Amino acid sequence: MSLSQCFNVEDFRRLARRKLPRPIFDYLDGGADDEWSLENNAAAFRRWRLMPQYLRDISTVDTQTTILGARAGAPAILSPTGMSRLFHHEKEIAVARAAGDLGLFYCLSTMATTTIEDAAAASAGPKMFQIYIHKDRGLTKELVARCRAAGYDALCLTVDAAVAGNRERDRRSGFVMPPRLTAAGFASFATHFEWTFNLLRDPGFDLVNVRASGGALGKGATGVIEYIDTQFDRTVTWDDAARLIEEWGGPFAIKGIQSADDARRAVDIGASAIMISNHGGRQLDSTPAPVECVRPMRDAIGDRAELIVDGGVRRGTHVLKALALGADAVSFGRPYLYALAAGGERGVRRFLSLFLEDLERSLALLGCARVADVDARHLRDLAADET
Ligand code: FNR
Repeated sequence: MSLSQCFNVEDFRRLARRKLPRPIFDYLDGGADDEWSLENNAAAFRRWRLMPQYLRDISTVDTQTTILGARAGAPAILSPTGMSRLFHHEKEIAVARAAGDLGLFYCLSTMATTTIEDAAAASAGPKMFQIYIHKDRGLTKELVARCRAAGYDALCLTVDAAVAGNRERDRRSGFVMPPRLTAAGFASFATHFEWTFNLLRDPGFDLVNVRASGGALGKGATGVIEYIDTQFDRTVTWDDAARLIEEWGGPFAIKGIQSADDARRAVDIGASAIMISNHGGRQLDSTPAPVECVRPMRDAIGDRAELIVDGGVRRGTHVLKALALGADAVSFGRPYLYALAAGGERGVRRFLSLFLEDLERSLALLGCARVADVDARHLRDLAADET
């Protein structure tokens, strides 16, 4: 199987699985506990049917929109994902470059293996930086100042990871960060020669934007979990979020919100957008699928903030459903990481181009020339039909 044989997310996933040693693939692919939320995030989209409206002029279809005050090539953001170096040696630079060249919004994680400045230089498109508040509060101030200097369009605060989720696949596989060629994982590393060769040739696994632990992860058997549990600040409250919004003074998203109450609070302290998310099913399991939260949240906050659906988005038709429910945009993580693992920058470019093509075609088939044309009339709710 090669990149040219990849046509959808599942194809890229299959190729990524072949390219990555098993512990690395499982870290990318997995979720918390029973992985119920992970499964349900995608399955929840099945609840709705799209209702096309025909005989509309769709001679030109425009996928562009505005998100967090910036012009974007599509109502879609590349979600922040830590440690992209794990999946390919071209890491975040490859993703930022591919997304930027297509005008797509890229969000860099605090846990990135590329600097704020290098990612900004690689991206010709809109960009956001995602913050985890560390116990070292000076670090947050420093990150905000660096984002301002590097020209980021927006900031995003992730609120659903004060402690690490229970990723049993990682515990079973003995996943460590930075990766080490352990006896337990030896067979898997040895049979993934290309990845292992690049591990030795070009390590670069440091979390270069955080100096809290000297930039490197702890040395315990569960490096990531240990890092989160020792470095992230569990005392963070709405007051801290409000202060951060004030300090930044620009477009600001809060990521990880799932209830209408929290959405209201976020708007009250000045958030410009809410990324409805359960961290791709990697934190608290059994939480609702983000797409299920859109309507109640829209009802709660009206038009006071943008809503971004993050989790389980795999196709253009998923974007249309999210928009018809009242969202302004979607975002996705694993899909572009599978593509990165499958083929570096070339893989990400291929995936994002296919995604844009799919979105444009789906809009046309729905009878819409523009993103703003999609509304509640384009949706039928099967659950409502049954009651
Ligand atoms: C993530 N996610 C994440 N979120 C965040 O705010 N900061 C981070 O550093 C990370 N890191 C991370 C690593 C990996 C490997 C994955 C898969 C995810 C969550 C991410 O931003 C997003 O919420 C989910 O990936 C969305 O779900 P899908 O699109 O993967 O189904």
